[in-house]
Formats: sequence, structure tokens, C-alpha cells
Amino acid sequence: MFPRTRMRRLRSSEAVRALVRETELAVTDLIYPVFVTTGEGVRQPIEAMPGVYRFSVDLLLQHLEEIVALGIPAVIVFGVPQYKDTAASRAYDPEGEVQLAVRAIKEAYPDLLVITDVCLCAYTLDGHCGVTREGVVLNDETLELLAKTAVSHARAGADMVAPSDMMDGRVGCIRDALDDRGYGHVGILSYAAKYASAFYGPFREAAGSAPVFGDRRAYQMNPANAREAMREIELDIAEGADIVMVKPALAYLDVIRRARETFNVPVAAYNVSGEYALVKAAVERGWVDERAIVLEMLTAIKRAGADMILTYFAPDVARWLKEG
Ligand code: PBG
Repeated sequence: MFPRTRMRRLRSSEAVRALVRETELAVTDLIYPVFVTTGEGVRQPIEAMPGVYRFSVDLLLQHLEEIVALGIPAVIVFGVPQYKDTAASRAYDPEGEVQLAVRAIKEAYPDLLVITDVCLCAYTLDGHCGVTREGVVLNDETLELLAKTAVSHARAGADMVAPSDMMDGRVGCIRDALDDRGYGHVGILSYAAKYASAFYGPFREAAGSAPVFGDRRAYQMNPANAREAMREIELDIAEGADIVMVKPALAYLDVIRRARETFNVPVAAYNVSGEYALVKAAVERGWVDERAIVLEMLTAIKRAGADMILTYFAPDVARWLKEG
């Protein structure tokens, strides 16, 4: 009790603050999301995500040179397809955007961990994460296409696949499909607790994946629920997920914390497009200090219990951490 106890003693110098620091953010915690499209020499800015681009493979490779040099250990690849159809066939085309990009990235940077997002929303005509009939997203019919997509990514050389669709049973289905075809070494990072969130707005512009009718509430989780997230994660682990993700991150720190305390698998958190856009908008107006606010947010996500963070800020953070 005061005056014998003085909390400020351990805050009085940089050295002592460093000694008692509980959470460390490191470049090795970061996974950098990238968008790839067809063509050559393509570098399209995404309006609501300043600093993020849709690249063709050639310019993506160029961009990744810096990412690798910064020591960022992993990327997650999203495809922006040339065409969409009801069967989402471009998602599992061996010559599709993601497949070509993965092959090229692994060839140029063999040590960079390449994760692929497995979903159909950018590839279907109606923008839903599965095949639909009369406005309903069909679960079991979608599983086969997701598994096909995951296998095609593995064949291209992906180290890990990340299903983000929220169909029931997809992790087990993908695990079986990978194992049956000799891809037992390919991991699954499952978007296990993925909420139906307004924070994905800018991403849908980037990936051209907004649903044409309705929303995703019939398959993504209700933001009001946390116990349900533990059931989702439990099922995904049972089906074979190697890493489980909570998404979005900042409004769901309690879910990250619960996941960390309940399960012994690595937990990832996705600092999503809307979280990025809000910061960028305030920075542009000079309202907040970008470096300070981003480091504080990402440290909080780690403090909540995340082992790794998917974030569009990864290059900036890597630079800031280097500067010290
Ligand atoms: C695809 C997918 C989405 C995101 C990652 N994978 C969008 C969605 O579910 O609508 C969002 C990522 C972000 O907002 O940064 N299903």
C-alpha cells in the first residue's frame, strides 16, 4: 500500500520498463495479406486501403522482395479473378490467379511461408462464400469445391491453406482431400471464429467479393456471441486445424483471450481491412500518430493472446521495429 508500494518505480526508466515488459511484438509474428490479379504490370490502388494494391504476379514478386528483406515470415494470398461463374471454377483452376502467384512466389522466395485464403466469395457470381440455390448458401455442396480449391493451392506449392468460408465441416473435408492426395505436410490455418462483421467493407472492394444479395449472417458468426466461438474452434481443432483464427481482432479481444485460455493450439488474429482503414483515415486527417497507434493496437492483440497477427500494416511495423 502507498507509500511503501509505488507502482511508478518500475516505470521510471527505459531500462526498467523493458525489463518488466510483458508483451513483445516481433516481426516474426506477422502475416502479410496480398491481393493478386491477372495481367502484367498491374498495380491498382484500393481506395479505402491506402498503401494496399492489387498486383499482377510480376509486380507482386517485386513488392515481396522488400517484404522478405524486412524479415516478414509469411504472406496470405487472395485472388482477384479474371471472371466469376456459378461454380466458382476460377477458384480451383490450376492456372488461376492464386495458383500462378503461389508457384512464382515459392520459386522466387522459397523460405517465405505462403498461405492461401480458401473461399469462393470472389469467384461466385453472387459473391457468397459458397454455391447458392434460391438464395440459400448450400453447405455440403460447397465443401467439395473448397476441398478442390485447397488441393489446387497445395499442388501449386502453398505451405498452408486458410479456409475463410465458415461452412460446417470444411476443415475435415479439406484435411481428408489434402491427405488423400499426398499433401499431408500442408497445414490448415482455419478462420475458426469468423464473425459477420462490418469491418470487412474495404476488403470486399479490394477482392470484389461483396455479396450481390443479402449478407453473410447465415454462415458467419453473430458478433454478440463468444461461447459459440469456443464451439467453432473446438470443432475445427477436432477436424484437423493446425492454427485457429479469430477475426476481426480489435473488437474481439475477449474472444482471442478465451481461445488462448481454452485451447493449446496456436491462435491467429486478423487485424482486418476496416481496422486498417479507420486508422488510415484518421492519420490522413492528422488526428492520430500512426506509428504509436498501430504498435499499441497490435501489442494489445498479442496481449489478448494471439500468437500471430495478419495485418496490412506488416511492412510498416517491420520497419518501425527495426528502427527500434
Ligand atoms: C473471404 C474473406 C474475407 C476476408 C478475408 N477472407 C471477406 C468476407 O468474409 O467477406 C476479410 C479480410 C479483411 O477484411 O481484411 N471470405
